[in-house]
Amino acid sequence: MADLKVQFCGVNFKNPIIAASAEPTLSARNMKQVIRTGAGGLVAKTVTDSEAMRRLTRMSKWRYLDEEHNVCRGKIPRLFTFYGRTGLAEETPEEWMKELKEAQTSALKHDCALIGSVAGTTVESWVTLSKMMEDTGIRLIELNFGCPHPSEMKGTPTGMLVGQDKNAASDITHQVTRSVKIPVIIKLTPQVADVVDMARAVQSAGGSAVTIINRFVGFCLDIETGRPYIHGWAGVGGPWVKPLTLRWVSKVYTALGIPITGTNGVYDWKDAVEFMMSGATLVQLCSVVMLKGYGYLGKVIKGVEEFLDRKGYPSVREIIGVAAKAAMSYEEMESLPRECALIVRELCTNCKRCMRSCFYNAIEVKEGEVTIGEACRGCGICTCVCPVPGAILLRHLCVYPPS
Ligand SMILES: Cc1cc2nc3c(=O)[nH]c(=O)nc-3n(C[C@H](O)[C@H](O)[C@H](O)COP(=O)(O)O)c2cc1C
Repeated sequence: MADLKVQFCGVNFKNPIIAASAEPTLSARNMKQVIRTGAGGLVAKTVTDSEAMRRLTRMSKWRYLDEEHNVCRGKIPRLFTFYGRTGLAEETPEEWMKELKEAQTSALKHDCALIGSVAGTTVESWVTLSKMMEDTGIRLIELNFGCPHPSEMKGTPTGMLVGQDKNAASDITHQVTRSVKIPVIIKLTPQVADVVDMARAVQSAGGSAVTIINRFVGFCLDIETGRPYIHGWAGVGGPWVKPLTLRWVSKVYTALGIPITGTNGVYDWKDAVEFMMSGATLVQLCSVVMLKGYGYLGKVIKGVEEFLDRKGYPSVREIIGVAAKAAMSYEEMESLPRECALIVRELCTNCKRCMRSCFYNAIEVKEGEVTIGEACRGCGICTCVCPVPGAILLRHLCVYPPS
């Protein structure tokens, strides 16, 4: 059986699947439920000194939306949208540290690595909260520079507002990392032009790792009533976000080589493998756990293990970053051999579906048969829209016409 163990900033994880900071980790009771699933770790709900962000959790509202962005009732599709608002941990920092210590006792028993999460309102409170966190015996801290809601709330300079300001993000990272001895992970927001640039800034300021990436803010509405769901703007995400997240996971991995924990868009074990192949060492799950329950984490771990065994990988560590490293620059792509579409005559039904989607005008009807001409540049769209599997193939082109 493949070895699932990974090291992250010097801390051992028995496997790379962890629960993200959110409602499934919002109390010692909830964290213990995560721990019992066999998850490699968990990130506790973010603790804050912002009363507004604590109050917001009491007004928590969530909707699963389907592919047409209608509110789901019972049946939730795989590519759901999770639209909602919540705040941070409801407890005061002092109360929260007690919850953390209780969870930590259980985590140690079950070899589950507990990560604390912090969001302050001033540089001083970021530091104070991080030190309080370190004093509980926790071995890793995540700074939440990505919470989507503060931008809509007055008087809460936390979360995304910090993550969008390179100077503030660097300053807080610097002050926290020089004040605590344990490694600090920075959780970034996707709502910046260049996540690599922000990751580089927090790395230079002392951050040991990055979490890529928190949720976007969206606006989803009901056209029958002409009103937004849950009264207004909210965090938005779901499994469909995965390619956007993986872009930044892979870019940060190749540009900086900093340890990455990936979040935002995982539905199942296959997504977790994709996150790791893009460069994440740890993979965080949230909204799918809220949908399917704590036990689902165990299924994801099993799925990753079975995949590794089927492919003959001795260790999960071998897949980290393989796809990111295989990605070519546009310059490198110029030297790739040219491809051309090839119609398999025996399978083609002459339905002409391919012609409707060929915008290089390379497909014509000649003597009653759909035919690929010299204008074909091997873009591949016809192979996707053709209704008969295998009726159009892509072939490397040495001489035209292809044989
Ligand atoms: C209900 C809910 C509460 C969340 N609370 C926090 C939080 O307190 N701190 C934090 O850093 N991220 C928080 N997040 C973001 C998650 O940790 C996670 O990064 C995000 O949901 C993307 O992962 P997913 O696609 O698996 O849902 C929350 C997300 C949700 C849905």
